[in-house]
Amino acid sequence: MADFVFKSGADAEFVDTRHGYDRWAAIYDDEDNPLIAVEQARVDALLGDVRGLEIVDLGCGTGRHTLRLVQRGARLTAIDFADAMVARAAGKPGWRDVRFIRHDLQNPLPLPDASFDRVVSFLVLEHITHLPAFFAECRRICRPDGFLLATTLHPAMSLRGIAAHFNDPATGRDVCPAGHAHTTSDYVNSALAAGWRLEQLDEACVDAALAARSTRAAKYLGWPMFLALKLSPAAPDDR
Ligand SMILES: C[S@@+](CC[C@H](N)C(=O)[O-])C[C@H]1O[C@@H](n2cnc3c(N)ncnc32)[C@H](O)[C@@H]1O
Repeated sequence: MADFVFKSGADAEFVDTRHGYDRWAAIYDDEDNPLIAVEQARVDALLGDVRGLEIVDLGCGTGRHTLRLVQRGARLTAIDFADAMVARAAGKPGWRDVRFIRHDLQNPLPLPDASFDRVVSFLVLEHITHLPAFFAECRRICRPDGFLLATTLHPAMSLRGIAAHFNDPATGRDVCPAGHAHTTSDYVNSALAAGWRLEQLDEACVDAALAARSTRAAKYLGWPMFLALKLSPAAPDDR
């Protein structure tokens, strides 16, 4: 993992992750966020049919994917430590059907072994300090025939000085919740060491259509913005 220098420079506010998302919550769902625009359709394709499945969403935020998965017939448990993010999920269709748990993902998960068909985590990995422990916990709670799908800002964005951030309308300053410039090999090697097998690595660049509809995306035309790992439990003799 490299040291990270955020491009916005001296004027940006660097805050701890939870505090940062508690502030971001007020505008998170309404922003022009090109990463989310790239991610959503790809997640649907990678997850496939979820009807009747037991799914845990780690770092659920405002329930962006959580509630879509409920609508598609899955049973959802959703974990996050930023109260203001989770509060935004309340009132959205399906939210009463979700079991929300307030918990720091950097601690062991308060969930039984082998209890989920799908373990999902969307746009959270860059905030996880110790990836091997996180992937090991995901492995522990996943059923043997299940899989893990984790998405993240592409590590190539770090080379452009970009990390998760938002512009605070109250101050006009960029705010950066703490994160790490993990590399693709940090993700893959940590997952393999935790007992996962790599099924699919998915990447996406900003294309002309996205650049045309998102001013924030236009400056990254052709640049990788999104990375996803689809991982299945390794058989004992794979390891
Ligand atoms: C970029 S948001 C993604 C939210 C949602 N998954 C989505 O894709 O819209 C990252 C979320 O991860 C949560 N998060 C980051 N680190 C966490 C930790 N250590 N424990 C619990 N939640 C965490 C934040 O509070 C935030 O809600």
